Amino acid sequence: MDKLRITGGARLQGEVSISGAKNSALPILCASLLTADPLHLANVPQLNDTRTMQRLLGQMGVRSESSGTDVTLQADRVDSLEAPYELVKTMRASILVLGPLVARFGEARVSLPGGCTIGQRPVDQHIKGLEALGAEITMEHGFVVARTTRLKGASVRTDMVTVTGTENLLMAAVLADGQTILENAAREPEVVDLAELLIKMGARIQGHGTDRIVIDGVPRLHGAAHTVISDRIEAGTFLCAVGATGGDIMLRNTDAAIMGATLDKLGEAGLAITTGPDWIRASMDRRPRAVGLRTHEYPGLATDMQAQIMALNAVAEGTAIVVENIFENRFMHVQELCRLGADIDIDGHTAVVRGVSQLSGAKVMATDLRASASLVIAGLAAEGVTQVDRIYHLDRGYDRMEVKLRNLGARIERVSGKEEE
Ligand code: EPU
Repeated sequence: MDKLRITGGARLQGEVSISGAKNSALPILCASLLTADPLHLANVPQLNDTRTMQRLLGQMGVRSESSGTDVTLQADRVDSLEAPYELVKTMRASILVLGPLVARFGEARVSLPGGCTIGQRPVDQHIKGLEALGAEITMEHGFVVARTTRLKGASVRTDMVTVTGTENLLMAAVLADGQTILENAAREPEVVDLAELLIKMGARIQGHGTDRIVIDGVPRLHGAAHTVISDRIEAGTFLCAVGATGGDIMLRNTDAAIMGATLDKLGEAGLAITTGPDWIRASMDRRPRAVGLRTHEYPGLATDMQAQIMALNAVAEGTAIVVENIFENRFMHVQELCRLGADIDIDGHTAVVRGVSQLSGAKVMATDLRASASLVIAGLAAEGVTQVDRIYHLDRGYDRMEVKLRNLGARIERVSGKEEE
């Protein structure tokens, strides 16, 4: 297993190009199942998760060709309607094949994802929505099995806001007979990006970006070309990094308009942020100020930024109260941050972070994707050497993070598991 070795203390300086959004690319890759025509995608991030999704689609008979960040997919010879446990357990987003498969082929078998480190993460709302659209759903040997002759439009109000739930139901409803109304829908930019792609494929969708999406089903969709939006969480992660180390960085290929509450929050922490049409520049020349936060659905403060901002708070002046409202167990990074000298207490969904003037490098272990990113940020700010173990979590969702950080002047290297042995 690869590790990252970081020698802290270097200020970050220079330019970095932000990749396409993981959480946009994953549903968009699945949308290829909705048509027999080719889908031409650009700005698809090169990540373990996107590769896993392409492998899963490949097992179903979807042909895909990649050249850098361009991916062409064609689902004209689908011969398996099943997502096996081996792939679903490594990537929960595999559940996103359920909606498109049942909508186009009238049948799907997707392994139940099970829990993960950040929480239980059930898929009951995906199932409830598909049942409302007329799918007959049974649980068989650990699989969700959905069957229908043709889905029928319906009104669906999910119990809570769910991002992949909204995306699954959107992909199901576009081929349903009649009108579907999704109430309490997720408003995340990644949902909007998926809807924009579906519209290019011939879908009739209104209200995406609000909590009420209206879909008029069509009998079939056709091919399209689409560029995936930039990754707002990757952008936010680099901003937290410069906040913790000090310096001056320019993010390219990004979009300030989709950052939600992140830029304001980092401004409160003391970063000087300016933005243009496709860039964000941030400089930091002081110790950060502690910033309290409560995670919330978009456009509130993203749960996917909580761990990285926690790393910033760990070295800030003052005390921050951090409340995690979306996932029940998303403080796995806290123990590891404490190994680096952070002063953090957890009580249920709340963490109290008392900033310390200096972290000190240590060996730490990544537990999930965003937790890994917070440990990297803390390591960059710490005195001495930090070794982050189990970075396969990081590779799931960040495109060559250590290379991008090194280009900004960070002292960070990948130590391959083989070299260590
Ligand atoms: N929930 C249910 N039942 C459902 C669906 C969701 O109880 O059927 C609960 C979840 O357990 C959670 C809350 O609703 O407590 C919200 O979960 P949501 O469904 O929105 O999460 P998700 O769609 O599984 C996506 C992202 C996550 C991100 C969350 C929240 C993708 C592939 N994943 O997950 O991204 O944290 O939305 O914004 O889009 C990450 O990139 O590191 C990551 C975890």
